[in-house]
This record gives sequence, C-alpha cells and structure tokens, in this order.
Amino acid sequence: MPLPAEHPLVDGRTVGSPLVQAARGERPPVRPVWFMRQAGRSLPEYREVRAGGDMLEACLTPALAAEITLQPVRRHGVDAAVFFSDIVVPVLLAGVAVQIVPGRGPVFDEPVRTAADVARLPALAPDALTPIADAVALVVAELGATPLIGFGGAPYTLASYLVEGGPSKEQLRTRALMNSDPATWAALLDWCADVTGAFLRAQVLAGASVVQLFDSWAGSLSRADYQRSVLPHSRRALDAVADLGIPRIHFGVGTEHLLDLLPAAGADVVGVDWRVPLDEAARRLPGVVLQGNIDPALLFAPADVLDRHVTDVLRRGDAAPAHIVNLGHGVPPDTDPAVLTRIVDLVHAAKDPRVE
Ligand code: CP3
Repeated sequence: MPLPAEHPLVDGRTVGSPLVQAARGERPPVRPVWFMRQAGRSLPEYREVRAGGDMLEACLTPALAAEITLQPVRRHGVDAAVFFSDIVVPVLLAGVAVQIVPGRGPVFDEPVRTAADVARLPALAPDALTPIADAVALVVAELGATPLIGFGGAPYTLASYLVEGGPSKEQLRTRALMNSDPATWAALLDWCADVTGAFLRAQVLAGASVVQLFDSWAGSLSRADYQRSVLPHSRRALDAVADLGIPRIHFGVGTEHLLDLLPAAGADVVGVDWRVPLDEAARRLPGVVLQGNIDPALLFAPADVLDRHVTDVLRRGDAAPAHIVNLGHGVPPDTDPAVLTRIVDLVHAAKDPRVE
C-alpha cells in the first residue's frame, strides 16, 4: 500500500530535509539534530499548557498534542519534530487500563502475567487510533519542510511494563516469564508488536516522515535471550510500516553487547546511547547510519565542557555513512532549554568535513 498523495514524502515537502537525507544514508550539507524527549518538562511552555492536566488525556487531545509537539521545533530550531505521545497510548486505546504516574511512569491496574491474562488482551480497533491520526495531521500541516518522527515502544519494553505492572529496573518477572513459558511470551510480544505496529502505521499514514522504535530496556537482556525471544518481535513491529518505504530508526539503551544484532530487526538507522563512541559503533555496524549520542549528563556541565563533547561526538559520527545528532537518551526534565538550543546552533554551524 503506497503513502497517500498528500504525504510530505510524496508531495516532496520533507524529501530534501537533512533528517530524511541522513536517514537514507546521504550526506546533507548540515547534520540533522533533534532530541529524544524534546517535548516535555524541560520547556516552560510545556509546563504551562500541561498544568493540572493528565498526561494521557493530553496525548488524546489532538490540538494539545499537536501544540506540544511543535513547541521544541519553534524554540530550538531542531531538524525534526517528534510526536508527543507515549509508548503506552496504543495499549490504552486497545482498552487496557493504564495511568502515567508523574515522576514514575506507566502503571497498570492489572499486570499481565499468565497465559489467561495474555489471552484476554483485547485487539486494537483501527478507528481507536483516530485521535492520533488527527493530532499528526494538525502537526504536519504546521511543519512544512520539517519532518515529523512517529514512534512506538518496542515489544520487549512495552511488555515489561505490562508484566511488571509499572517501571522496573531489571524486569525480573518479565525475563522469568520469557524463559518459563515461551508460548505465552511469544503471544504477549506479538500482541505488543501489533499494537505498536498499528500505532506507527497510523502516524505514518497521517503524515510522519520517519519512525523510531524505542527499546529502552533491551539492555538488560543477554544476547541469546534478545536474539531468540525479542528480536523477531521487534522485527514484526518494524515490518508493520515496511511497505510504506519510510526511514526507520531503532534505538535502545545499554545495548553495547547487542549492537551488531539490531540491524536484523529491519531499521535503516541504529540509535546509540552515550556509552559507546560512535566511531566504535560504526566499526561494529559497517554501512549503517547512526544516531546519537551526546551524554545527557553533560547538559549539566559548563559550556566549554559540553561544547568539546559535542564536537567530539560529531567527529566520531563522521565514521558512519551518515549521522543524525541526538542525545544518548531522553532530555532530563530539569535541563536548561537554552543548553539544547546552543547544541542545535553548534551542530548547524559545524562543517561536515565529508561534504564539499
Ligand atoms: O520524545 C518526545 O519528546 C516525544 C514524547 C515521548 C514521551 N514518551 C512523552 C512523555 C516519547 C517518545 C516517549 C516514549 C517513552 N515513554 C519511552 C521510551 C523512551 C525512553 O525515554 O526510554 C518510555 C520508556 C516511556 C514510558 C514513560 N512515560 C516514562 C518512563 C515516563 C516518565 C515518567 C516521569 O514522570 O518521569 C513517561 C511519561 C512521559 N512521557 C512524560 C513525557 C513528556 C512525562 C509526563 C509529564 O510531563 O508529567
């Protein structure tokens, strides 16, 4: 199925953008930069529009979700918007009760731990995603040549919230289920992959030019577990938009030991956290476009220390076929937003030595 005629990649609006060019392995004159969690509590304008309101309600109110998505583009001049939503939104829209507790994260009324729990998970009705498509359409109408990144949670990360009932450090119950009841595990991860896949697809059909799959907790898995019990399901989620021909980014945290396995999930770009220098990641992933990997801790360092680090990240990123500049993980809520704007200016002023 092709993209609609009015999609920004079809009518040409975002085709020449640095983000789309870099994601396709070309070298734009200026490196693209955006930040994971650029929309959020680091921005006073975000805190103002969210004041007193519920996070998931904001995600399901198209005009508000669109406004919050646009805020960091206006303020920082980043090369992409990332859709304001959450990895658990499609789970909620499927009918599973979940709340986002401020300072903690997604919390489920009833954890999903047994074969019967998994069998009861409801299918996501296609029209349940209407508020998402509506919000994306509002954003894309405002963005012009700047691409919107759609996103979803990878099946393992999403399943870990469902099984644990909330955030957890090492996902012990999740990995116990994976190893003790492989059939129930596979059914749960397929459900998560399908919910995320439908969420990604709705965002792309409504106008997102790129997608990113977030596998925030994949780092706690062994290589064997990742390869056998997780990777095929991440591939299933990414496959949900494969026929649409849009660039796909795959990001994980703490995935140093898994890096060479990630491309098999099907994405065009691998996001690297701050632990692995990009030139080393490029050696381990020949021919793969890389995204990252400014250490979020250095957002709190003096300007000269941060600037030296950013310059070093750019130099190392030159070892990849193309480089999308980002942090190694999300923007911490107490970040001074002026620091993010300065990084954008620094990246845009830096000459890419590989481009004439
Ligand atoms: O990046 C962006 O600007 C787009 C928006 C976005 C949010 N969540 C908004 C949000 C994205 C891409 C996510 C993804 C997400 N959500 C992930 C994967 C990315 C990662 O950071 O590893 C995960 C693990 C979640 C689950 C989740 N939702 C957590 C851990 C939290 C934080 C809880 C807290 O209060 O610190 C949330 C809530 C959330 N999602 C907020 C935002 C802006 C904070 C809500 C608030 O403003 O109160």
